[in-house]
This record gives sequence, structure tokens and C-alpha cells, in this order.
Amino acid sequence: MSQYETPLFTGLLEHMKKNPIQFHIPGHKKGAGMDPQFRHFIGENALAIDLINIGPLDDLHQPKGIIKHAQELAAEAFGADYTFFSVQGTSGAIMTMVMSVAGPGDKIIVPRNVHKSVMSAIVFSGATPIFIHPEVDKDLGISHGVTPESVENALRQHPDAKGVLVINPTYFGIAGDLKKIVDIAHAYHVPVLVDEAHGVHIHFHERLPMSAMQAGADMAATSVHKLGGSMTQSSILNVREGLVSAKRVQAILSMLTTTSTSYLLLASLDVARKRLATEGRELAEKAIQLAEMIREQINQIPHLYCVGKEILGTTATYDYDPTKLIISVKELGLTGYDVENWLRQMYNIEVELSDLYNILCIITPGDTEKEADILITALRHLSEEFRHQADKGIKPKVLLPDIPSLAFTPRDAFYSDTEVVPFEKSAGRIIAEFVMVYPPGIPIFIPGEIITEENLAYIKKNLEVGLPVQGPEDDTLQTLRVIKEVQSL
Ligand SMILES: Cc1ncc(COP(=O)(O)O)c(C=O)c1O
Repeated sequence: MSQYETPLFTGLLEHMKKNPIQFHIPGHKKGAGMDPQFRHFIGENALAIDLINIGPLDDLHQPKGIIKHAQELAAEAFGADYTFFSVQGTSGAIMTMVMSVAGPGDKIIVPRNVHKSVMSAIVFSGATPIFIHPEVDKDLGISHGVTPESVENALRQHPDAKGVLVINPTYFGIAGDLKKIVDIAHAYHVPVLVDEAHGVHIHFHERLPMSAMQAGADMAATSVHKLGGSMTQSSILNVREGLVSAKRVQAILSMLTTTSTSYLLLASLDVARKRLATEGRELAEKAIQLAEMIREQINQIPHLYCVGKEILGTTATYDYDPTKLIISVKELGLTGYDVENWLRQMYNIEVELSDLYNILCIITPGDTEKEADILITALRHLSEEFRHQADKGIKPKVLLPDIPSLAFTPRDAFYSDTEVVPFEKSAGRIIAEFVMVYPPGIPIFIPGEIITEENLAYIKKNLEVGLPVQGPEDDTLQTLRVIKEVQSL
């Protein structure tokens, strides 16, 4: 079969053309039984392929037909032995990776700045996380990946670990020396699991960081929906057999996946793979060139800094993805969140994320010079409007969350006897819930960690500037759920 073929999408179209009389779910029956306004908006074509795993359309839980062929083509395109489609985002694929290597009491080496899905899987599986501290960029106020040295250290101390999980590239597009990390872990016969949520495109262009499969990793959870042109929520899980078993991966993915898998999402993965495999390099080249042009222009604007190749040179900043525009705004005396709102109000621009010091804009093959020009014009205006603050030299001190100590495994903490205490009085207690800023969804606290004053201050700072702090049952953050302390008599 050739990479120009789309067995899943084509199979759906053929089925649709037969126009079968449907006595099965979805009950909207090609849209006829649906709210007319929504039907007109979404369109008949989309509703006609909003189907379910009836015989001719194969079954994601046990693929033998069109889904199997589509997954095989994806495996070939991504250089994997097997590719599994996920309709539950990269979060579902990440949970599958973790749960297929680590069970109750098993150790798994992970960076502390992991996405919440990694920690959720650790709670579900009962595994014990061995944290590696990511390298922190104190100037930008962001975390990068982990270094080969820190992976080697962790493995020397925990050679019985069942897996090493790394984020490559990070949300901000920074990559570590993945090949070296894989070689180190493999010398200990430990599989490497890659959170490749932000790197579907990197496999297809030599100027982008090395992909997980190119580096010889054992598994990679990859968001095709983020940067690869498929629909939101559709991702893939690439597997190289040897240290992990594809059959176990399939079984666990199936345990975690809805039985009502969306064929719209699955078909969009099939066509995105075709485009990446047949035109991915050209498309990435276009995005890289546009992003480089924007970066150059932004760096001519006073008081703004768009990160470029000068960030490279450490083992944590081994490579980077130039299509990610990290724009540091702190010199203007503004937070990233202020700038996000200003851009929304003044220019109808929506950024990918903002934090205390930066905004992140992503450039993809879907962008053109038109959007680029609007962004540059808006940033020039921003700099002009707030330069008086920069001229006064108001530069915020970069505040970063501490990594608290883990007193209980996340699962033990999550299922312990708990109580609610006032936020202000929670320092020193062991937290039983997650607290994170979303995006990027990296926990400030995970269940089992000892609450520190510094991290409470970091949460308050994020709340003060309006950033979305999520996770606790009490979303006003007046209280936190902590492990009950036994009173001594
Ligand atoms: C680093 C990282 N990993 C995993 C995910 C989860 O991906 P998804 O939203 O596809 O579930 C995200 C989402 O933003 C992420 O930033």
C-alpha cells in the first residue's frame, strides 16, 4: 500500500456512498435526527461519516480491516513497528505508555514537569515516580527537558526502574539529546517513553529535532491534532518492539478507550498521515521559513525577545523547533497573561499560551504572511504603548515553583483519608490533589507532596495575574485537600 492511500477515509466514503439504511447508533442517523441549526452548520458530509464500529468499518479495539491498514501506513510513515490510533488525545496515549510498563510498586523515572496525564497514570497504576529535575531557564522562567547525565544518575540509583519517560520536544519546542538518553536507558535494558505531544512534525524535516522513533525510543505518544493537521483529540501511539510488547500496549489502550470511537477523528488521522508522509517536509519548510522571518522581525522590536538558536548549547537545550515563537515580554513590565489579553482585545489575536513572563505563538503550514504581518504589527504597537514601563526599568523578578518533596506515593496520597484546610494554613501538610496552571498543565503540586510556602506564593502570583490555576476540588483555592493527620493523644 502506498502513502498516498487513505484506507480508513476511503472506506468510510465507500460505505457512505452505499447509503445504507441505519438501524444502529449514532441515533442522529446521518444528521436527520439532530438539531437542524447544528446540522446545517456542521454539514451533511461530516454527519454521514459520524459512524460506529459496524462490520465494514472495522473496530479500533481489535482492528482487522481499514483501521488496521491505516495504522500500518502510519507505522511506516513514523518509522515505528506499530502505530495505534488514539481518540482520547495524547493524554490517553501517555496513560497507555505508563500503564503498559509500570504496575503497583514499580519505579518509573519521570521529569517533575510532566503533563498531568503522566501523573494520573501513576496514580492509576500505583507506580512510584522517581523524579528527575528538569533544567530550568531562570531568565525565561520556563523548564526545559532533562539531560542525559540526570537520566544516567537516576538509572544508576534505580536500575530496577521499569521505564524512563521524557518530554521531547517541550511545549516551548526545546529538545534534549534524545538519542543519548535512549542509548543510556537501553544500556540498562530500560524502555524510553516519549511524550511527543508537541512534535508530530519533527519526524518529517531534518532541521527539526530528532523524533522519538528516529532516536530509537520504545514508545512515543504524539499529538497529530496539535501540529499534524488532524482533528482535535486525535493522536497516535508509536511503538518499537523489543523492550515493550505491542500486544500489551493494545490491551491497555483498549482498556482506557471508549467503545464508541469517533470515525471523524480516526479518518482525520488517516488523511493527516498521508499529508505528513507525502508533503510533510515541504509543509514544515514553509512553516520554518515563516517563523524565522517573524522571529527576526520581533527581535528588532524594542523590549521584546523571541528565543532563537542562541538558546542551544547545553545538554538540556540540544536542539529546538524554530516554528515555536517563545516571546519574552517581561522587559515591558507586563506578564504574558497581560499581553495575551491585550492582543485579544486590540487585535483579535489568540496566542497558544501565556505565563508570567512569556507568550507562545505556534506557526504551522496553516499560517501565511498575512497573519504574520498582523502579529508583528500588534507587537510593535505593544512595545510602543508600554515602553514607558520598560524605560523605568521595571523588570519582574522571575519566580519559579520549587519542586516539593514527595512524602507518599501519589496513589497512596490520592486514596488516603483526607481533610480540607485553608489554603493559607496548608504549608507543611501533604497534599492529596493536583494543582496546576493550564495550559501547559504541568503540576505545581501532585498528590503526596509536602506543601511549601514558596509554592503557595507561586500559586497566588499566578492567580493574582489571572492565569488559570486548576485541579483542586475548591476551584476558588480558598482551601486545599490534604492528608488527615492523626492527632497524638
Ligand atoms: C507536554 C504535553 N503532554 C501531553 C499533552 C496532552 O495532549 P492531549 O491534549 O492531546 O491529550 C499536552 C497537552 O497540552 C502537553 O502539553
